[in-house]
Amino acid sequence: MARAENASEQEEGRDLFTIKGTHHIEFFVGNAKQAAYFYRRAFGFELFAYAGPETGVRETVSYALRQGKIVLLLTTPLLPDHPSTDFLKQHGDGVRDIALHVTDAAEAYSITTGRGARGVAEPHTVEDENGSVTLASIATYGDTVHTFVQREDSYTGPFLPHFKATPQDTLAQAVGLQFVDHVVGNVGWEQMNETVEFYKKVFGFSRFVSFDDKDISTDYTALRSTVVANENRWIKFPINEPAEGLRKSQIEEYVQFNNGPGVQHIAMHTSDIVHTVSQLHANGVDFLVTPDTYYDELRDRVGDIDESFERLRQLKILVDRDDKGYMLQIFTKPLEDRPTLFIEIIQRHGAESFGKGNFKALFESIEREQETRGNL
Ligand code: FE2
Repeated sequence: MARAENASEQEEGRDLFTIKGTHHIEFFVGNAKQAAYFYRRAFGFELFAYAGPETGVRETVSYALRQGKIVLLLTTPLLPDHPSTDFLKQHGDGVRDIALHVTDAAEAYSITTGRGARGVAEPHTVEDENGSVTLASIATYGDTVHTFVQREDSYTGPFLPHFKATPQDTLAQAVGLQFVDHVVGNVGWEQMNETVEFYKKVFGFSRFVSFDDKDISTDYTALRSTVVANENRWIKFPINEPAEGLRKSQIEEYVQFNNGPGVQHIAMHTSDIVHTVSQLHANGVDFLVTPDTYYDELRDRVGDIDESFERLRQLKILVDRDDKGYMLQIFTKPLEDRPTLFIEIIQRHGAESFGKGNFKALFESIEREQETRGNL
């Protein structure tokens, strides 16, 4: 397989405003009470805050869950004419908001809308007895939004105004998830470039040129992907579009069932993927199955690694290498009945790429199995 000279490089790009990181990821779901139980019990997220009628919020209920630096917010509408009800009708359960922690929400809103982003919520300050937080939101692909969260250290509440802390969560057992590594958006045919240009123009993000770009084999992947990142690369958004390939594009399937563009997967980092995936298995999380033949060639493909190849084979964890190091990854099956949103568990040992080499290796291992059945 041809290897790039440099695994990654960054085009010139300067952040137009300060982003401290991902503040939280909000899902609109049909039944947040039950979804919270799933993410607590299966993925080990701790419930720490709640907003709803009991806290003075009349139209929605929201459960805030956390593990490491990752915060998930699960929101369900209580009224049929609430905007989130229409989101659920169109898309089913999924990601509504990739909320970014900024130093100045009004500035972020003014810069992004001044550069062509569509405003969804103008800057507004919400407050309760713990202090105040300023929020503003803009639209991105599909019905997905970015909320800019300006929360000072002086705000003493558990999460955002009108959220109340919940009792110690005795159900959730953390599995070692630490932070959001990247969030992937799926868009329709021929929409990738305009989405990439949106992030370049509106946020000042730049194309994160990685090993993956030079190794795209659309025959095998049936997708095209470009990664945009902020200056310090804490925010990485790969954008996928469907491509013609040997099989129907998985991106096309996503866009059909999601009824438009949306978040395809959230990659969460762990420093011990063998431990994390073992725990997730024990909790009943379903992962994509990797054929055993994938592991026959693995040692030749990736060389020496710290982890036991046998353990990786048992857990079906994938490995890829670039010139900066290697990474391990595994993908869950879709988390809802529509084949839409899933989660990736990732551990990086230096590598900055996103695992595209695995598409080809997986495809070839499937072909080897076909061959053994005389069907190739
Ligand atoms: Fe990924």
